Amino acid sequence: MNVRWNPRQSSTLIAPSILSADFSRLGQQIALVEAAGADWIHLDVMDGHFVPNISYGPMVVKTVNRLTDLYLDTHLMIDNPDRYLEAFQKAGSDLLVVHAEVPGVIPGTLRRIRDLGLDAGISLNPETPVEALDQALDLVDLVLIMSVHPGFGGQAFIPDALEKVAAVQREIERRGRDVIIEIDGGIEPDNAAAAHRAGARVLVAGSSIFHQPDPAAALQALREAAETAVV
Ligand code: DX5
Ligand code: ZN
Repeated sequence: MNVRWNPRQSSTLIAPSILSADFSRLGQQIALVEAAGADWIHLDVMDGHFVPNISYGPMVVKTVNRLTDLYLDTHLMIDNPDRYLEAFQKAGSDLLVVHAEVPGVIPGTLRRIRDLGLDAGISLNPETPVEALDQALDLVDLVLIMSVHPGFGGQAFIPDALEKVAAVQREIERRGRDVIIEIDGGIEPDNAAAAHRAGARVLVAGSSIFHQPDPAAALQALREAAETAVV
């Protein structure tokens, strides 16, 4: 496991998604969330096939890696992840998250990610049942539960994701695994506590940080809201 990832350090990890950042001043946007206490940077890679949108690839990850020392959480919403694993490793990704809906990722791609020395994650779309994780849970460091349909920032949170997070958390505990849960899509202060309470340790947030007038204050508000769930 990567040395920069120490999930026991804080109760909630906030991972701003730069999909919603202003790319004309990406350096400033990253410096701003880093100074505000962001734990990770979440990078959404979309290929126009697995999802109906195209975002960016290894070149942007490499740029972000030069701009920050934060842990780079790379969410691959792409149909053929195997072809690009090494490119993302070279670009500086710390964690590669692939989708359970893509044929062949379990166990093959997950093993290849770890063979590259990176942390491995598996993601479930809203319509994909938790059972899809059966073979994957022993091979990953993280499970990402999508709380919107992947492809775009700024969508409304799907509440069913909370029960899914709780079910994955129960299964992780039952197996005694060291796997953390991340939730992604529509996260804002109003649902952060519920997400945390269900078992999500990492909260991805795009528009509720970068589309706010004061992104630093928005990040802190999100963290405070999440931590109201901590007894
Ligand atoms: C959606 C992406 C998300 C997105 C979240 O496909 O996986 O990471 O950036 O954006 P918000 O927080 O605006 O829903
Ligand atoms: Zn994402």
